[in-house]
Amino acid sequence: LNTLTTGLKGALVQYPDFPSPGILFEDIMPIFASPVQHNSLVRALELHVLNAHPATITPPFAGIDVVVGLEARGFLFGPSLALRIGAGFVPVRKAGKLPGETVQVAYKKEYGEDLFELQKGAIKPGSRVLIVDDIIATGGTAEAAEKLVTMCGATVVEFCFLMELGFLKGRDKLKAPVFTLLTGQE
Ligand code: PRP
Ligand code: MG
Repeated sequence: LNTLTTGLKGALVQYPDFPSPGILFEDIMPIFASPVQHNSLVRALELHVLNAHPATITPPFAGIDVVVGLEARGFLFGPSLALRIGAGFVPVRKAGKLPGETVQVAYKKEYGEDLFELQKGAIKPGSRVLIVDDIIATGGTAEAAEKLVTMCGATVVEFCFLMELGFLKGRDKLKAPVFTLLTGQE
């Protein structure tokens, strides 16, 4: 896992004052431009899940039922991880994108405000859910997703992030445990 994550950290590129003054933006896209890095990311998360939640690959497969990815950057690797651990994939989207009935939660993040939605019925009550996203900063985004999943009667088993900005203490907002591959901007 260490070898995989060291390479990933080197692939990230920092942009000061983007998208607004005072924010140091971590660009994760170079990871996906490289098939080697891309595979390392998904493999590292897969290894973590199989280690931390062995029931995922052992009958009666009571580990993770659903991976929930957060629009937009949680869509980049959430589906790949879901496939590897034998779970379904369900998106949480920004307002106005999902058809049919939805549940909604408004939230604040490091640099703005948004509204998140999840389709009613997309996650069965009692499901065991892993929420994935690229970065946890203030934790506002992840907290909103945790509320949506809970509103469906499902349980958030864990959060998985590529990177945590530890100084913002985002994990303190979350009820479920947090796993992160990298830490940044300490
Ligand atoms: C970014 C990032 C995380 C979130 C973290 O998403 O991808 O989802 O902010 O911030 P927080 O912990 O302070 O809530 P953003 O909505 O800016 O962009 P995206 O649609 O490209 O994922
Ligand atoms: Mg995001």
